Amino acid sequence: MYVFSDSVKDLRSSAIRDLMSLATHPDMISFAGGMPDNELFPLEDVGEIFNSLSRREQQAALQYAPTTGYPPLLQELEKWLRKKGLPVDTNRLIVTTGSLQGINIFAKLFVNPNDVVLTENPSFIGALSAFNSYLGKIHGIPMDEEGMNIEKLKEALSLNPKLLYVMPTFHNPAGTSYSLERRKQLLAVMNETSVPILEDDAYGDLAFNAEDTALRVPLKALSEKESQICYSGSFSKIFGPGIRLGWMLLSDDFYRKAELCKQSFDACSPTFTQVLAYRFLASGKLDRYVAWVRVIYKQRADYMVDAIMRYFPEEAKFVRPQGGFYLWVKLPDGMDEQELLKATIADGAVFVVGSTFDPSGTSNGYIRLSFSNTPEEKIERGIRIIGDRMKQMMKKSL
Ligand SMILES: Cc1ncc(COP(=O)(O)O)c(C=O)c1O
Repeated sequence: MYVFSDSVKDLRSSAIRDLMSLATHPDMISFAGGMPDNELFPLEDVGEIFNSLSRREQQAALQYAPTTGYPPLLQELEKWLRKKGLPVDTNRLIVTTGSLQGINIFAKLFVNPNDVVLTENPSFIGALSAFNSYLGKIHGIPMDEEGMNIEKLKEALSLNPKLLYVMPTFHNPAGTSYSLERRKQLLAVMNETSVPILEDDAYGDLAFNAEDTALRVPLKALSEKESQICYSGSFSKIFGPGIRLGWMLLSDDFYRKAELCKQSFDACSPTFTQVLAYRFLASGKLDRYVAWVRVIYKQRADYMVDAIMRYFPEEAKFVRPQGGFYLWVKLPDGMDEQELLKATIADGAVFVVGSTFDPSGTSNGYIRLSFSNTPEEKIERGIRIIGDRMKQMMKKSL
């Protein structure tokens, strides 16, 4: 008889995942996936880059790269991050196999079984799973429109946390960004501690209005004690998740351990896609592509907001997104999100229930709608299905 390890023995498929497996019908309108639209990928750019690789680059692409990344890509990434005001000269950069690997590495650096990990509530399910897999005890801190509740953060520090994980810009799933004031308040509290912070900026480049990016300056660019912060990013939302590349910008201390961890995970991230990403970035194609998709995501977000105003009961509340992929909707009081999901799947529309993003899996009366992956003509139909079902459920409960 085999015996699974403590870290996996309690992992099991959730009722929600089983329910989602029903939602595979080709006509299903999905607001569930946190992914870009296949139709928007920069296929021509990739073809052009691929065809123009020198023999030396082709050879490099099929070879192992240094664990910390393909050097030309690291150099270009450094330039790119410097433009965001990030302290690249006093930190080191590691290319990761998706930013999810960065989260796993950071968890491995600090989390022993039963150690407390602070996250926002709600939080990114991939990060919650990573912290759980190291048997961390996740303590979720509530958020409002402007970010994490600072009083609750202060209280949570008494739990002796080993790390804090945050998504200050275009949060998944909440869709919102921390105000500048809240960023400063969080840093003022955390600077008094030596708790490492993982700042996940997977969506930071997807602002709908590029002019107000100064309000969303990364914590690592703002902090007086930035060495405490590991800044992570990803090519998944600005190029394609299939290339499986992200990065971590971190202080020398963290860097040395992270490199050793990564060596045991996968030796290096795919060199093939690092060569592509290097050329995509160095040629300016990435900047042009991001400028283009931002406009499309804004149109989709606007379209979804308009449809919600038309079809959802006014008791359903949300904050208009300013970037990213998500709209986080508070359902009318007392409405069960799982029941709503069952009903809308039957009618042909699917979303993710809020409990998925709660560190303890508790129902919270929210749903996450992703607008990134659904063309406009389907958004209206899907939102109408969900709105009609909400109204029916409200009537029934009277
Ligand atoms: C907030 C956040 N961080 C990290 C990731 C992981 O992205 P990847 O591993 O593809 O870079 C995602 C993916 O959805 C995300 O939403």
